Amino acid sequence: MTTATTDTATLAAPADAIGAPLLELRDLQMHFTARGDGWFGRNDHRIRAVDGVSLQLRAGETLGLVGESGCGKTTTGRLITRLLEPTGGQVLYQGTDITHLKEKDLRPYRRELQLIFQDPYSSLNPRHTVGAIIGAPLRVHNLVPKGRELDRVRELLEVVGLNPEHYNRYPHEFSGGQRQRIGIARALAVQPKVIVADEPVSALDVSIQAQVMNLLEDLRKEFDIAFVFIAHDLGVVRHFCDRVAVMYLGRVAEIADRDALYGTPQHPYTQALLSAVPDLGVVRGGAPKTRIRLAGDVPGPMDPPTGCRFRSRCWKAEDVCATTTPPLRQVGDGQAAACHFAGPLQESATAVAA
Ligand SMILES: Nc1ncnc2c1ncn2[C@@H]1O[C@H](COP(=O)(O)OP(=O)(O)OP(=O)(O)O)[C@@H](O)[C@H]1O
Ligand code: SF4
Ligand SMILES: [Mg+2]
Repeated sequence: MTTATTDTATLAAPADAIGAPLLELRDLQMHFTARGDGWFGRNDHRIRAVDGVSLQLRAGETLGLVGESGCGKTTTGRLITRLLEPTGGQVLYQGTDITHLKEKDLRPYRRELQLIFQDPYSSLNPRHTVGAIIGAPLRVHNLVPKGRELDRVRELLEVVGLNPEHYNRYPHEFSGGQRQRIGIARALAVQPKVIVADEPVSALDVSIQAQVMNLLEDLRKEFDIAFVFIAHDLGVVRHFCDRVAVMYLGRVAEIADRDALYGTPQHPYTQALLSAVPDLGVVRGGAPKTRIRLAGDVPGPMDPPTGCRFRSRCWKAEDVCATTTPPLRQVGDGQAAACHFAGPLQESATAVAA
C-alpha cells in the first residue's frame, strides 16, 4: 500500500497529465444555518452539508458522485453549477475562480455549467409549452438569430429522441421519461461543457431508466460534455463513469478510476457500499459473497463524529480515528482514500458481515 501524503486537490485527478482540469473544487464547504428556538433564546445550528470537498473534472470526463441520502451530493452539484454560493473553499472553472462571482458576472458560466434535476416534472413550468421551455435559454443567452429559434427547438427535440412537432405541447402531455428528455434538451440548448445530472433516472420506471441512461451516454460522446453523475448506489454509475467519488457526511471518502474503485476498493465505506450492490456483491480480496452490514445510522451533519466521520460505523476503527481526521491519500494508481488504515478488504470485515 502506498501511503505518501500529497495535496488532496492533486490526488483528486491523478491522471491530470492530459491537461488542466475543466473544473476544480478546492476544500469546498457549504454550511447551512438551521434556525431553532431554545429555552434561552435563539439556538441556531450549523449543518455541514459539504465540508471540505476537493475534486477535479477534466473536459469530456464523467465523474460519479455516490453516497447515502444526506451526504451532500445535491449540495455539491448545486455548488458546482453555482446555484449556491459556498461558505468556504473555491470553485474554479477553466482556472477562473468563480466562487463568489455575482449574478451578472456568473452569466457566461451559467451557460457552460448545467444541472439536470431528479424530478423532471417539478423542474418544468407546467404553464409553458415545451417550445417555450427549451427556447427560453436560447433567448436569454442570445444563441440563435431571431426567427430561427423554433428550428433549433425542433432540432433539440430530435436530438433527445422526441417528436420535433410536439414543441407546442405542455409537460403534462408527456410521460416521465419524455419529460426527463425535455429537461435534457433544455440543458443541451446552451451547449454546456459540464452537466451535473442529479439522480436523473431515479424517479423513472425501471424500464425507462436504461433508455435515458443510453441517451445521456450518446450525448456525452457526441458533444464531448463532462458529466458529474449523482447517484445513491454504485451499481447505477458503474457503466457510465470514468471515475467515481464516494461521499460520506459531506466529505469524499474515496475517489478512483472506475476499475480501481470497483475492483480494489480501499476505504471501508466503499467496500460496504459495493457489497450491497447485487451482482457486485463480491468485493475482490474479500470472502466470497461477503455482505457487509454497517452498524447504526449515518450520524447527522449537525454533529458529525470527530476525526474520521465514518468511525461510528467502521469495523476497522481504532483510537486514532477519533482524534485525527484522515486526509485523502494516494493508495494506488489513480486512487485516493481518506482512511488511516486504507487497504483491501480483509477477513476482519467478516466480523460485521452477514
Ligand atoms: N437549504 C438547506 N438548508 C439547510 N440544510 C440543508 C439545505 N440543503 C441541504 N441541507 C442538508 O444538508 C445535508 C445534505 O443534503 P443534500 O441534499 O446535499 O444530500 P444528498 O446527498 O443529495 O441526499 P439525497 O440522496 O437524499 O438526495 C442534509 O442533511 C440536508 O438536510
Ligand atoms: S479512518 Fe478509521 S474509522 Fe475511518 S474509515 Fe479508516 S479505519 Fe475506519
Ligand atoms: Mg440529493
